[in-house]
Amino acid sequence: MKIALAGKGGVGKTTISASLARFLGEKGERVFAIDADPNANLALSLGLSRAQSEKIVPISEMRDLIAERTGVEPGSMGAYFKLNPEVGDLPDRFKLEHRGVMFLQVGAIKEPSAGCYCPENALLKSLLMNLVLLRDETVILDMEAGFEHLTRGTAQAFDAMIIVVEPSLQSVLTASRIHALAEKIGIRNVFYVGNMVRDAEDRAFIEREFEGSTVIGYISYSDEIHSAVRQGRAPYDVSPELAADVAAIWDSVVRHVGGALGS
Ligand SMILES: Nc1ncnc2c1ncn2[C@@H]1O[C@H](COP(=O)(O)OP(=O)(O)OP(=O)(O)O)[C@@H](O)[C@H]1O
Ligand SMILES: [Mg+2]
Repeated sequence: MKIALAGKGGVGKTTISASLARFLGEKGERVFAIDADPNANLALSLGLSRAQSEKIVPISEMRDLIAERTGVEPGSMGAYFKLNPEVGDLPDRFKLEHRGVMFLQVGAIKEPSAGCYCPENALLKSLLMNLVLLRDETVILDMEAGFEHLTRGTAQAFDAMIIVVEPSLQSVLTASRIHALAEKIGIRNVFYVGNMVRDAEDRAFIEREFEGSTVIGYISYSDEIHSAVRQGRAPYDVSPELAADVAAIWDSVVRHVGGALGS
């Protein structure tokens, strides 16, 4: 199963990605949790320590590796480089294992300046493609609203995208834009998760706004989650309610994707 999470800034993508990965790790499933956000914080949410998190170098910043694999130094313009560099060894070489989860910080896609397809972008895209198309582990990808890391081929190989929404109109509008983009690049299933739900009214708002779409679950607002993140602890470890919610969300993903495959 390959799942990408997206949504407006601050809606809870990282919290939910980390918690899903931890849930799967606990079940004994082989799972990669991949941080593709330039402002990376998935490591902390998975429960890695501050010291461990601070030491991580995203793959997008490994200059020697990029030069070795693409044939060109990062930042070079106009030079020929390999568009499909060899990356098959990288997930196992750079993963950090924590509580049954294999974590990879891939880093951000660089804004390609006019006409420049940077070698670091080629490496990241190939890496994502390798993880999603060639490996059989479950992949949970925490990403930005844009899909710069995904080629069309990679996007089509995802089983689903989960768009996280909170009870706010901004998050609903961003979600609609993301949904349209996801369909355009060929993601097969788009599901919603309502996060930070405080009461029945919040839930009714999300139900109403996404009527006709597939809302696969809700997560309540909880002070435990909020303070866990402040203390650098894994939300999954401090909130049994969150752990139960992500278990239900995963069941729902599996049911819906299984149904979609069978139909
Ligand atoms: N259900 C929840 N209850 C309480 N606080 C939450 C909940 N979900 C997320 N938060 C808090 O909201 C903040 C944003 O969460 P998170 O970092 O997961 O969002 P994000 O979508 O990944 O943000 P970004 O766009 O910056 O990457 C965090 O401080 C987190 O503690
Ligand atoms: Mg995040």
